[in-house]
Amino acid sequence: MAFPPGFLDEIRIRVSLPDVIGRKVRLIKKGREYSGLCPFHNEKSPSFTVNDEKGFFHCFGCGAHGDVIGYVMQSQNLGFLEAVEQLAGEAGLEVPRASPQERERVFKQKTLVEVMEAAAGFFQAQLDGQAGAAARAYLDQRGLDRAAIERFRLGYAPGFSGGQGLLKQFLLREFPEDMLIEAGLVKKPDDGRDSFDYFRDRVMFPILDRAGRVIAFGGRVMGDGKPKYLNSPDTPLFHKGRVLYGLSWARAGVAKGAQLVVTEGYMDVIALHRAGFEGAVAPLGTALTEEQLEELWKLTPEPTLCFDGDAAGQRAASRGLDRALPLLKAGRSLKFAVLPAGEDPDSLIGRQGNLAMQAVLDGAKPLAEVLFAQELAARPIDTPERRADLTHRLNARAFAIADEGLKREYQYFFKNKMYEQGRPQRANTRQKTVKDRNGRFKPQVPEVVSGARLTLGTQAVERRRQELLVAMVLARPDLLDDHVEEFAHMVLTAPDLDKLRREILNVHAANSGLDAATLQHHLTNHGFVRDVERLLGQQVLAHTQFALPADRETTRLGWLQALTLWHSHLDRAQELEAAVRRFEIEPTEASWARITALQEQAEIERTEQAEFDGATAGWVSPGRH
Ligand code: GTP
Ligand code: MN
Repeated sequence: MAFPPGFLDEIRIRVSLPDVIGRKVRLIKKGREYSGLCPFHNEKSPSFTVNDEKGFFHCFGCGAHGDVIGYVMQSQNLGFLEAVEQLAGEAGLEVPRASPQERERVFKQKTLVEVMEAAAGFFQAQLDGQAGAAARAYLDQRGLDRAAIERFRLGYAPGFSGGQGLLKQFLLREFPEDMLIEAGLVKKPDDGRDSFDYFRDRVMFPILDRAGRVIAFGGRVMGDGKPKYLNSPDTPLFHKGRVLYGLSWARAGVAKGAQLVVTEGYMDVIALHRAGFEGAVAPLGTALTEEQLEELWKLTPEPTLCFDGDAAGQRAASRGLDRALPLLKAGRSLKFAVLPAGEDPDSLIGRQGNLAMQAVLDGAKPLAEVLFAQELAARPIDTPERRADLTHRLNARAFAIADEGLKREYQYFFKNKMYEQGRPQRANTRQKTVKDRNGRFKPQVPEVVSGARLTLGTQAVERRRQELLVAMVLARPDLLDDHVEEFAHMVLTAPDLDKLRREILNVHAANSGLDAATLQHHLTNHGFVRDVERLLGQQVLAHTQFALPADRETTRLGWLQALTLWHSHLDRAQELEAAVRRFEIEPTEASWARITALQEQAEIERTEQAEFDGATAGWVSPGRH
């Protein structure tokens, strides 16, 4: 039986080949193609490929080859008609009847795809014509030039002819009214009044399917009217929850290496593509659906959700996260980028340029981190009960993940994050919190952070630690026989001490079997007399209760311990500095908790240092040579 032109194509457009094959064959995405074990012959390594874009499969092993119809025929041993019937059913298409009249009717019938394409052309022509003057001015004012209008096929739905501009012209062009209604371009009122155009006096954004064919429209009012955007109703071609605006462009972009970015609006997708972020898509004003997530994951393992920083945008991001959680699998997740409050990608790029946008995307955080931060920020964790409650909530979130292995990974991840949050706060390391106007918990900038810099100990303590390390070498240069490497790579923050350290290294390099008297003599004669006096005098050694025992091994171990303490102090200071910077950018409960944890750790280290100092008391000072 001959089908009308376009009918089989329509099946091929509506039914995704990888989806159909994926029901039986485990397909793995590799670049633009999928591959898997061939269902038509026995094999151990995959030589079966599926090309979604071109709509065919091919096996390099057995030569099996075909499109979606061929696949159904071969895999289920069906005839051509049976396969077409089955697929048409899946696609929501009616198979043309076999009676000659019916066949004639269907044969002449234009397909929905053709109508939508014609409508896109009509709207484009209207934008260019007289009626489109105001729309052209509107697009111009929104910064969209001729090139952008053409690239994104923007148009204008006129409001003239009593709102029947499209209807009248398309009837003349022999599109049946039923078909215009089915396509969602024309609306027939229930009360028997005349049909009229669905879109009137709006700027039109064609919505394309994954293959780049027009399947629906979004129309924006040019002023402040409501609704701001109107989308095509669901039709046989278009299911709002299944489609992403910009998917066909993003597919090409991602194939070229672009990051797949999900944003909120039509204008955002356009602004992103124009700015060179060619992986941008948007749902159509609704929360992301499972089907949309599956579409995204077909393109890339970790799409980035980039929603507005305002409350509504963050709620949308949060809904996306909730929706994704049960669907996560090994190697398949989401990232989250947060825009500055009050900006969407369109406005951010317009005001601050591409680099600002790139910075937002570069700051995208993995889903697991976002989930943890969300729960952590929800309530304070300043008592054991509240910490336990957080653990409980995190576990509940992890349980939403269906994949068993990944669920365990999340539990493990959360456990570690909890551990990082440190033990319950002690009474004296107070955590400042206040409630905002809605009674929600929010962290307050702690006083230690409000100053420019925060240190872990006093400067005097930091200095003393460094002096001690150098003083020991001055008194016992034989330490360098074992540890010249450590001494050479030691990081001292006090410039005068560091200069002295380098001079000691020079002297040591030039004198084998260097003893204390020789070293001190050299330094005294080379401008270091004051330093040597101070380091070997009572200020340093007495103050630190440090003195040198006769036993070389004990000295060596003592020096190493002092060195370790100093280096871990430096690491901690660096971490703390980073944590403070982070808190300034992102004053959340999580980033504040990080600071307190580091401060607590520092306190433990200070205690260790005191113990170390105490243990060295009672050694006999060698005094000065
Ligand atoms: P501009 O205001 O033109 O910059 O658009 P926008 O995309 O920034 O608007 P907004 O952030 O308000 O909305 C984001 C997306 O939600 C839009 O692109 C639409 O897809 C959808 N949307 C917004 N308003 C409406 C509406 O009134 N009805 C429907 N159906 N969708 C809407
Ligand atoms: Mn906008």
